[in-house]
Amino acid sequence: MTTYTLQILAGDGIGPEAMTEVKKLVAWINDKTDITINSRDGLVGGCSYDAYGEPLSDETLAECRDADAILLGAVGGPKWNNVEYTKRPEAGLLRLRKELDLFANLRPALVFDALIDASTLKPEIVRGLDILIVRELTGGVYFGEPRGIEDLGNGQRRGINTQVYTTAEIERVARVAFDLARKRGNKVTSCEKANVMESGKLWREDVSALHGKEFYDVELEHMYADNCAMQLLRNPSQFDVIVTDNLFGDILSDEAAMLTGSLGMLPSASLGDQNTTALYEPVHGSAPDIAGQGKANPLATILSFAMCLRYSFNQGTLADKIETCVQNVLNNGIRTPDIMADGCTEVSTSGMGDALIAELEK
Ligand code: IPM
Ligand code: MG
Repeated sequence: MTTYTLQILAGDGIGPEAMTEVKKLVAWINDKTDITINSRDGLVGGCSYDAYGEPLSDETLAECRDADAILLGAVGGPKWNNVEYTKRPEAGLLRLRKELDLFANLRPALVFDALIDASTLKPEIVRGLDILIVRELTGGVYFGEPRGIEDLGNGQRRGINTQVYTTAEIERVARVAFDLARKRGNKVTSCEKANVMESGKLWREDVSALHGKEFYDVELEHMYADNCAMQLLRNPSQFDVIVTDNLFGDILSDEAAMLTGSLGMLPSASLGDQNTTALYEPVHGSAPDIAGQGKANPLATILSFAMCLRYSFNQGTLADKIETCVQNVLNNGIRTPDIMADGCTEVSTSGMGDALIAELEK
C-alpha cells in the first residue's frame, strides 16, 4: 500500500467546483486501487486574502512544502481588482512558484479528436496536434529587479520591470525541455527575442551550448518569439517541444491552448528539482463569470491531477487510464457547455465528473 499526501488549493472562481470532481476521483482511487491519497485543503488567492489578509499564508506554504504534490484550481476575480498588487490573488500563485522554485512549467497543447471542430483553425491544421510548451516560471520579467512605479515629480510617472536571466536559469529549464523532447518527437524549438534583447541573446547562446554538450541527438531550432506566435497559427504541427522564458511562455501557451479549441481541457505541471514538491494546475483561469453555476469544465483540473499521478506519484498506468477514460467520455458525446456540439449531451460540472467515474468503473 503506497500513500501520498496531496495538498489541494482550490482557490477562487470555478476552482472549487472543478476540484469537487477531482475529489470524487481521489475517493474512487482510495476505494478501488492499492494506492491511498490523503488530500487536505488549503487556501490560496482571493479566498486566502479574505480569510488571512494575504493570498498565501506562511502556514499554507509550509503545508505545500511538506506535501508530495500540490493541486491548484484557479485564482483571481473582479472582487479583488482593487487590492494592492502584492496582495492580489495572482501574487499568491507567484509566491508559491517562486518559494518552491518551480522553474519548469509544462503546458501540453493537445487536440482531442472528439473536439477537433471546437478549434477556430481548420481541422486539417490542428488534427493530431501535440505540442509541449516548457515555460520558464521563476525568472525573467515576472520577478526581475528593479521593478515598480516611480513618481517623476513633474506630473509624470515611470513604470519599470526588468527582464533578467542567468546561464544557470536558462540551462536548467532547457535541460528539462531536451529531456522531455527525447521521450516525444525529439525536437526543441527555443524562443526568445535575441534580435532586440540581450537576455534573449544569452538565452540563445546558452541553449545552443547546452545542446552541443549534452543533447546533440535532439533537433534544436531557434525562433524569435513573435515568429513563433505566427507559426503556431500557420503550421502548428511543425512544433514538438517549445522552450521559452516566463513572459513569452505565458503568451504562447495561451495561444497554443486556444489552438486546441478547448482551454477548459488543458492541464499543466510546474516542476522544480527532484526534491521539491511539484504543483499541478489547469491552464484556464478562475472564470468568475460562470463560477457557481455548474457550467465549468472540470477536465483540465482532472487532467492536471493525472499529470500529478504520473510525475509526482509515479503512477503512470493510473494516469493513462484516467486520460483514456476522459477521451472515452468525450467520444461518447458527453460535453460541458464550453465544448458543447450538435448531437452531444450537455452535462454540468458534476455530471462530467460522474461520467468519468462511470467510465472508470467499466
Ligand atoms: C498563467 C497566468 C498567471 C501568469 C497569472 C494568473 C499570474 O496567466 O499561469 O499563465 O501570468 O503566470
Ligand atoms: Mg497566463
